[in-house]
Amino acid sequence: MLKIDLKGKKAFIAGVGDDQGYGWAIAKALAEAGAIILIGAWTPILKIFSTSLAAGKFDESRRLSDGSLMEIAKIYPLDASFDKLEDVPQEIRENKRYKDVEGYTISEVARAVAKDFGQIDIIVHSLANAPEVQKPLLETSRQGYLAALSSSSYSFVSLLAHFGPSMNAGGAALSLTYVASEKVIPGYGGGMSSAKAALESDTRTLGWEAARKWGVRVNTISAGPLRSRAAKAIGFIDKMIDYASANAPRTEELQAYEVANAAAFLLSPLASAITGSLVYVDNGLHTMGVAVDSPAFR
Ligand SMILES: NC(=O)c1ccc[n+]([C@@H]2O[C@H](COP(=O)([O-])OP(=O)(O)OC[C@H]3O[C@@H](n4cnc5c(N)ncnc54)[C@H](O)[C@@H]3O)[C@@H](O)[C@H]2O)c1
Repeated sequence: MLKIDLKGKKAFIAGVGDDQGYGWAIAKALAEAGAIILIGAWTPILKIFSTSLAAGKFDESRRLSDGSLMEIAKIYPLDASFDKLEDVPQEIRENKRYKDVEGYTISEVARAVAKDFGQIDIIVHSLANAPEVQKPLLETSRQGYLAALSSSSYSFVSLLAHFGPSMNAGGAALSLTYVASEKVIPGYGGGMSSAKAALESDTRTLGWEAARKWGVRVNTISAGPLRSRAAKAIGFIDKMIDYASANAPRTEELQAYEVANAAAFLLSPLASAITGSLVYVDNGLHTMGVAVDSPAFR
């Protein structure tokens, strides 16, 4: 039987803050395949995530197919907007959600993971942030635009640069992107469309560099709409889900596990010859050139 076997492989998943998003679903799929799960949770929500997890709030969605609960070997605080402590502005260091937390910049987390677990095999980037996401691009400030690129695109470059040296050859990295990088999605603003375009382009360049440097593959999944916390913050996710059901070749609502299963495949040795690739997991929506529910077709 052909199966995804990640037994004993160590996976660091950046961008899990609850059980609703793609990061959680990917962690679960990797755990199903036998991987050891390490999580990077955004510093301001680390506490609520860890407390909710410990209180059993996610137990139902933690359950694996053999009845056991997904184990998380360690949760690290992570702010992927910063590479080293010197980069963190004083006001953030002193912010009440940061001041009691240590070691959340990318270089510090990479060092801590290497110290705790040695070489790892998998990194997943499942995070995005744009302070001005609700503003059209024409109204986005330079600062807002650069912040979107910093936390949503450069963060992936930096994660790979810092974790790469302690990754096993044959390992793999994956990010999550969205079709707004290549087609206009009004409302996906604040430079987020630009950030996803950068992430996709970087996937190709990083795929080349990381393979030659460490023997590590790099891919990205262009996922369809999911009602995650981040998507709800953008503000029109229900409409995007309805639109997808009305216009994609497959009409079923896309489930997080469907993206996660594709992620587990791409991160496994079964995908050994796939790197630098963008894989759509969106019920086929990206293939459509017209909206079939348009009044023009009635
Ligand atoms: N939900 C969708 O419809 C959709 C569609 C396509 C792609 N994606 C992508 O999937 C990925 C995961 O998003 P999601 O929709 O599952 O939402 P989510 O809310 O589950 O995940 C986003 C995570 O990013 C974290 N984060 C934000 N800024 C951070 C920072 N500076 N450092 C570290 N962590 C930070 C948040 O705390 C959160 O846990 C993102 O890249 C998103 O763009 C989402």
